[in-house]
Amino acid sequence: MKKLENKVAVITGATSGMGLETAKLFLAQGAKVVLTGRSQEKLDALNGQLEGDYLLVKADAASISDSKKLVNQTVEKFGKIDILFLNAGIFKAAPAGMIEESLFDEIYNINVKGPLFTVNEAVSQLNPGGSVIFNTSVSGVKGMPGVSVYGSSKAAIRSIVRTLAAELAPQNIRVNAVSPGPIETPIWSKTNLTEEQIGGFSEGVSAQVPLGRFGKEVEVANTVLFLASNDASYITGAEVPVDGGLAQV
Ligand SMILES: NC(=O)c1ccc[n+]([C@@H]2O[C@H](COP(=O)([O-])OP(=O)(O)OC[C@H]3O[C@@H](n4cnc5c(N)ncnc54)[C@H](OP(=O)(O)O)[C@@H]3O)[C@@H](O)[C@H]2O)c1
Repeated sequence: MKKLENKVAVITGATSGMGLETAKLFLAQGAKVVLTGRSQEKLDALNGQLEGDYLLVKADAASISDSKKLVNQTVEKFGKIDILFLNAGIFKAAPAGMIEESLFDEIYNINVKGPLFTVNEAVSQLNPGGSVIFNTSVSGVKGMPGVSVYGSSKAAIRSIVRTLAAELAPQNIRVNAVSPGPIETPIWSKTNLTEEQIGGFSEGVSAQVPLGRFGKEVEVANTVLFLASNDASYITGAEVPVDGGLAQV
């Protein structure tokens, strides 16, 4: 039996990486899925390419008015929301002494303000029994050079998860996070680092991961499916690591 039959799921930042992989898995498990992205071109490229019942919505994760539009379009097409995966995010690095205000604002607007306000807009449309899942990061709990802005944005989300879990428990809505370690996704080609810096980072981090490798998108998607489904019915307020042991061992 499919795990998400007739559930309505919204996934932000679903035009690539873990978001897209999760959308495919959710569709295969019977969900109706709303995929968002900020690039119309990337959304158009997905049109007709996925199996199942889905809607593509252009919405900048950092824009509150786009979040409102996203919720309205979802409700109009599919009715109320059962699963909300706040996945859209960016990774950029800068060591102390090199941090520009614009970098801070960009990261916090997309990684913190956006997900919180999307929940703020969606909360009245969430069905009891629903599941909200955020995408945090190992950088939220481990000190890694250059990631004070990114890491703290994910640590802020960890705190938001705890608060929203307490707030929404009376409505039987669970709120959790998946916390990836280094995962092979297109995010690495979108950072402000040079290829050489990414190569160095990648080698260094792989050596620290007990399982000795980068993770795969599907390894995160499988965990998001677990948190979204009834299999995780007694789990709320948690951050589930999918990090090859990086922050655990
Ligand atoms: N990959 C890792 O190692 C890793 C580790 C820990 C946590 N994470 C987190 O995992 C999440 C997914 O990342 P990923 O690795 O799968 O990266 P990805 O392949 O770059 O996917 C990120 C998605 O978010 C979208 N996005 C970015 N900014 C957006 C905005 N302002 N509005 C709407 N959509 C936006 C991207 O669209 P565009 O392609 O148009 O930018 C893309 O669809 C992020 O929150 C990231 O911080 C990643």
